[in-house]
Amino acid sequence: MLDNDISRVVAADRAHVWHHLTQHKPFETGEPRVIVEGKGMRVWDQAGREFLDAVSGGVWTVNVGYGRESIADAVRDQLVKLNYFAGSAGSIPAALFSEKLISKMPGMSRVYYCNSGSEANEKAFKMVRQIAHKRYGGKKHKILFRERDYHGTTIGALSAGGQPERNAQYGPFAPGFIEVPHCLEYRKHDQGWGDLSGEAYGQRAADAIEEVILREGPDTVGAICLEPVTAGGGVIVPPKGYWERVQEICRKYDVLLHIDEVVCGVGRTGTWFGYQQFGIEPDFVTMAKGVASGYAAIACCVTTEKVFDLFKDDAADPLNYFRDISTFGGCTAGPAAALENMRIIENEDLLGNTQKMGDRLTANLLALQEKHAVIGEVRGLGLFQGAELVTDRATKEPVPEKLAQQVVAECGAQGVIIGVTNRSLPGLNNTLCLSPALIATEADIDRITDAIDVALTKTFG
Ligand SMILES: Cc1ncc(COP(=O)(O)O)c(C=O)c1O
Repeated sequence: MLDNDISRVVAADRAHVWHHLTQHKPFETGEPRVIVEGKGMRVWDQAGREFLDAVSGGVWTVNVGYGRESIADAVRDQLVKLNYFAGSAGSIPAALFSEKLISKMPGMSRVYYCNSGSEANEKAFKMVRQIAHKRYGGKKHKILFRERDYHGTTIGALSAGGQPERNAQYGPFAPGFIEVPHCLEYRKHDQGWGDLSGEAYGQRAADAIEEVILREGPDTVGAICLEPVTAGGGVIVPPKGYWERVQEICRKYDVLLHIDEVVCGVGRTGTWFGYQQFGIEPDFVTMAKGVASGYAAIACCVTTEKVFDLFKDDAADPLNYFRDISTFGGCTAGPAAALENMRIIENEDLLGNTQKMGDRLTANLLALQEKHAVIGEVRGLGLFQGAELVTDRATKEPVPEKLAQQVVAECGAQGVIIGVTNRSLPGLNNTLCLSPALIATEADIDRITDAIDVALTKTFG
């Protein structure tokens, strides 16, 4: 593209595009960032500057990396054959991708297509509500969610939002969504459970869910929605003992288990799904971002056959099926791209690479923790890692948000894009986030942590 063409693009962007999650005042004097091209792990901006992308498109999405011609070809071939038909009918890629997806999810059976992570979660919420009406006279309708988790941006999904800064000023929210405590051991001191650690802490955090169920009344609680590893709320891997108890509690009180795999889904943690690391048997699994690595919009709400059966048991009742449609859930580009995305992950053994490179990333970050007192804790799974920054390791006082953002900017100045928790919890937007594409090499991982090393030294000395 010629220089004057790209300045026109930037001018048009500045004049008319409302960027996501962005305060626009600085663009009155400075330029917004426009990403022009991507290849592998790298992207280029309007000035031709090259960046190593350690966050897979900013929000842990581009799992197989940029510039995959085979996905573009699969999408093109499908679009010229059939671009769209409403999801009340089937399509070839939707059928084939559902079969492939279910082959990676033992115990699961049905795929409901839609077009964003928020929407996939809304589908599960609606199913839970409809089940409550069908089986429990509407009573077992409450949906539990966890402090620090995020399930999307719509008012329904925000009603299940455990991040106060994402929710602030957007209420009132939908009734019947109830919060349970977080399970981040590093920040256990504000939970009043004493000095438990490891498995004992994990079980205590799960027991807190049972307490909420008992307080609300088990006959009113229909489901619990949890991220397998909390993403934007601080990269939180639940401690040992947690998931076993959660599963037990769900069975005991007949509470459906909804796992939000929007971030962890399709390889991010080194297994196809995050929940598979913990031996969980969910009733609903929702997914979006990595399903087609951002080559097309696709999201899925996947259920067991048992859940599905509840929606067809009385065919004579005109209301007895899932009366929901997602117009763009019928776009064929999504499943066509998703099929090829999955083929790439298998053929290139990207799950194996994620485990290996994840170990390297963890080791590098732990080495940085030895060197920089500001790193209070390193946590994550596979190529999904966080480093929480604190001013004092003893008190765990979070670093001011501005300084955490300065670390991100200093990495950017070195040509490496990293992330930081952003407008999630008041005073706790202090965790650096890393989620490089699953194709990352040792050299990429080292370059990312070298940039963080320099950025931490510049920011904190
Ligand atoms: C765990 C989780 N669930 C749901 C969503 C919402 O997905 P979407 O932005 O596609 O609606 C996100 C987005 O970041 C997420 O991190």
